[in-house]
Amino acid sequence: MDSITVHGNGPLYGSIPVSGAKNSAIKLMAASILTDQTLLLTNMPRLADTKFLGRLLQQFGIAVTENGHGADQETLFDAREITSSFAPYDLVRQMRASFNVLGPLLARTGRAKVSLPGGCTIGARPVDLHIDALTRLGAVIELEEGYVSATAPRGLIGAEIEFPFVSVGATEHTLMAATLARGTTVLKRAAREPEIGDLARCLVMMGAKIEGIDTDTLTIEGVTSLNGGEWSVIPDRIEMGSYACAAAMAGGEVRLTRSRPELITALTDRMVEAGVEVIPTEDGVIVKRDPSQRLKAVNVATEVYPGFATDLQAQFMALMTTADGVSVIHENIFENRFMHAPELMRLGAEISVHAGEAHVTGVEKLKGAPVMATDLRASVSLVIAGLVAEGETNIGRVYHLDRGFERLEEKLGACGADIRRVKGPPVEGPGDDH
Ligand code: EPZ
Repeated sequence: MDSITVHGNGPLYGSIPVSGAKNSAIKLMAASILTDQTLLLTNMPRLADTKFLGRLLQQFGIAVTENGHGADQETLFDAREITSSFAPYDLVRQMRASFNVLGPLLARTGRAKVSLPGGCTIGARPVDLHIDALTRLGAVIELEEGYVSATAPRGLIGAEIEFPFVSVGATEHTLMAATLARGTTVLKRAAREPEIGDLARCLVMMGAKIEGIDTDTLTIEGVTSLNGGEWSVIPDRIEMGSYACAAAMAGGEVRLTRSRPELITALTDRMVEAGVEVIPTEDGVIVKRDPSQRLKAVNVATEVYPGFATDLQAQFMALMTTADGVSVIHENIFENRFMHAPELMRLGAEISVHAGEAHVTGVEKLKGAPVMATDLRASVSLVIAGLVAEGETNIGRVYHLDRGFERLEEKLGACGADIRRVKGPPVEGPGDDH
């Protein structure tokens, strides 16, 4: 199992290209199931999660071909024939988003058997909304021995579905299934995350009829088949926000390129309040901070998009560990997403957690220590803290990081960070689920 070692060594200066979004790529990959023509995804990140989903798609008989390097990375999906609609527990357990192949398989082949994903470190994360919505589309669903067996012998049928609360996964899952349903589907209280907009626009490019993209009401007029085509994955706003926090933490001046800063204003507004300079550029943003000036503590509360992203909460908490004052951080999306707090405390941070609220009292200095990554975003928060901690911070279980951050050591290293990977024995699959 690899680990990452960081030595706090002063400000960062340089440029970081932002990769394609993991949380868009894996949905677009699942959408390839919906067509018997080829789908070419460009700006594809090469991550443990995308590799893993690629292997699952291959198990369904889909040919997956990766090409290119760096900015030219692309993957071709050819789902001419679906030879299996079975997703076993061992695979779904390792990446919960793979549960979302259920709807596309069902819409395309009329049947699917997919394991329930189970809980994960950041919360219970049930899939009841997904199952209810597919049932509303006419799927006959049975739950047995940890599996969801679904059939739609006469095809899926459009319906009006109002989600009881906003769910990214349930919205995208139902959207994909509804593109091939008979008649009209209306999804109310739909999630509006940019990755859902990206998926919907790709589906429209493939011939789907979808109205209300980027709003909380999606209207889908079912079609009998979808075409293939080519689609460029939206830039990763969470990777961008993570490097913005890294630059703000270490100080200096970092230019984030190939990115869309308008997608993370909930974060950058708070950073500006704390004393960071955020300057928009043609293809991204410059994040600048005078390292001799201490940041001010700022409060945040995670919300669904366009609110402050839960996937940036750990990184912002790391930033606040050395700010002047007390920052109150509310986590409103997941019930157990403060696992990084005790690890940050090992570096000398002062944090107290009560239910969904963390109080971070800024300290003047952090000190390096061995720490453990507990999930993907938690792991990058430890890297961010390590950038200013005196001495060495060694982060274990970095397979979490590899799920969602492409070439992290290289990108931060290019800006002057003292960060390196210490090789260990390989880990099977991406780790545990997200
Ligand atoms: C997506 O997870 C992301 N994952 C998460 O990113 C992200 O944190 C989350 O959305 C919120 O933005 C992917 O896109 C692959 P939800 P998802 O359904 O779809 C509850 C990362 O680090 N819920 O919006 O699973 C659920 O338990 C990951 O990249 C139900 O109760 O999130 C949670 O409390 C981590 N029943 C809340 O809703 C359901 O059927 C929101 O979850 C579905 C969800």
